[in-house]
Amino acid sequence: MKKKIIVGNWKMNPETSARAREIFSTISRRAKKFKQLEVVICPPAVYLGLFKKSSAKTGKNFSLGVQDIFWERSGPYTGEISPAMALSLGASFTIVGHSERRARGETDLVVSKKALAAARAGLRAIVCVGERERDAGGAYFEFLKNQIKSSLAGARPRDLRRVLIAYEPLWAIGKSFKEAMKPADVYEMSLFIKKVLTDLFGKDAALAAPILYGGSVNFENAGLIVKEGEVEGLLVGRESLDPENFTKLLRTINGL
Ligand code: 13P
Repeated sequence: MKKKIIVGNWKMNPETSARAREIFSTISRRAKKFKQLEVVICPPAVYLGLFKKSSAKTGKNFSLGVQDIFWERSGPYTGEISPAMALSLGASFTIVGHSERRARGETDLVVSKKALAAARAGLRAIVCVGERERDAGGAYFEFLKNQIKSSLAGARPRDLRRVLIAYEPLWAIGKSFKEAMKPADVYEMSLFIKKVLTDLFGKDAALAAPILYGGSVNFENAGLIVKEGEVEGLLVGRESLDPENFTKLLRTINGL
């Protein structure tokens, strides 16, 4: 059985490097024990250098990631970070196309350029997709299909070996933990996404790309979402900044 992938997206938190160190050291120490998991922490990129050494020692089931990446290798792109820079600071994953970036103007085209540049440079690209709202007529299926297609424009089947799809419906992000998507609905969407990937890239490529769920996951709802939702992992926001609760979440998924 493949390891479940649990990604912590710290977003623009915490405020100080001292607090970042504290959270990171607790999580990385504990994550080692959970051999059935691949745990990935995506801190703000400015903190990455603090964690490079200790994460290298933590072992195979623990990795670092960045929350965004640029597609060029180097040059006059103020504020951007290249895949090579992220790799050189120990990151092996990057999130791309998070809805909080899309909300500030990032288009599918930009997401596809970032995803491909990251994957081809050797990072694993966590491509975020998800509908803003649900309508009774089910138009969100069509929306999602188009969003996946254009966020992976130009990808070849073999690029999918370094792509993960994070399904994060916008209406479920940052809500109370009771408002996370119901496991049966997660299951329906994970099947749908696999079908879309199969139609676009073929069965083998589609099987290679893990599907994660994100949106108000906590230690209490995580187990059923993974088990009944049949996703291959989770993208966790707030709960990944609470070392105690995040450890409980990891323990639950490790025990499935
Ligand atoms: P929350 O888990 O805080 O809802 O955030 C989800 C998310 O956006 C992870 O990328």
